[in-house]
Amino acid sequence: KRPFYAYVKHPSIDGEYPVIGHITQELFNSAVNYKPDPSDLFIASYPKNGTTWLMNIIHLIKTNGVPLGKGQCLDDVIPFLEFEGGEVIKRAQKPRTIKTHLFYDMTPHNPDAKYVFVARNPKDVVVSFYYHTVGFDEHYKFKNGTFDDYFGVFLSGGCDSGDYFKMVPEWFKKSQERKNIHFMLYEDMKKDVRSEILKLAEFLDDSYQQSLLENDEELLNKVIEFSSFKKMQKDSKDGVFCPEIRPADLPFVRKGITGDWKTHLSRDQSERIDQRLAEAGRLYPGFDQLWS
Ligand code: A3P
Repeated sequence: KRPFYAYVKHPSIDGEYPVIGHITQELFNSAVNYKPDPSDLFIASYPKNGTTWLMNIIHLIKTNGVPLGKGQCLDDVIPFLEFEGGEVIKRAQKPRTIKTHLFYDMTPHNPDAKYVFVARNPKDVVVSFYYHTVGFDEHYKFKNGTFDDYFGVFLSGGCDSGDYFKMVPEWFKKSQERKNIHFMLYEDMKKDVRSEILKLAEFLDDSYQQSLLENDEELLNKVIEFSSFKKMQKDSKDGVFCPEIRPADLPFVRKGITGDWKTHLSRDQSERIDQRLAEAGRLYPGFDQLWS
């Protein structure tokens, strides 16, 4: 069996960077060397931060509210850069929407391309990532592993995609410096998805879709309905959002709430994340305030 984790090298990282086991150094190099087209739209995130939800929303906006059906897979219409490699992305039809979990410095940039980044409270991320990981047979390290084991790996930056506290604050900072990066929060989407969709549509500035979203309640309602947790959880059982076979009790679209950490993290674990957030806030001002 192939291991779940693989390690690759990149000049921006000391040592090695953990990725999903399928990703070879060659595939990774072709991904980071991909030359973006000005019409590209990247959806970037650390895993378990609401990527699939955001991908589905963007797909619905772009298709005028037509949801994916049985036998279709979101990954086919929004390819995953480092999983597929740059060659596959190059062959995709323009305008492309591309998913990535890469750090900012590894991500291919073009000043005219657009980047949407979604972030989520790391306390909920570690819980979500734990359930994601124990659900895969090939996650040899954590099959039957405990949450406490997983928590340690998450804090040390050992999960596939590396250190949350490096990846997410860096993208946050860059989003404040660059107009072509739109930073979103999972928690804001949970609170008021309608206004988050409208802000997103404004950023995408696809005048045709934007005006539709602003004036067309019917389309807006379709986007909201087809991307709702209930609908996505039902669809995910048909393999629309995650091609992997998962155990029935660990669906990919799992719980979809904020604050799940309160029933999972010990006081000590919660404080350790608070500490990491405070440290990140010193390097990236404002980051520690996002969930305070
Ligand atoms: P939970 O495990 O906490 O339920 P990603 O797509 O980045 O891997 O993120 C997955 C997380 O987003 C999972 O969190 C999943 O349930 C949640 N999610 C997916 N679709 C959602 C939706 N429509 N509304 C709210 N949360 C959603």
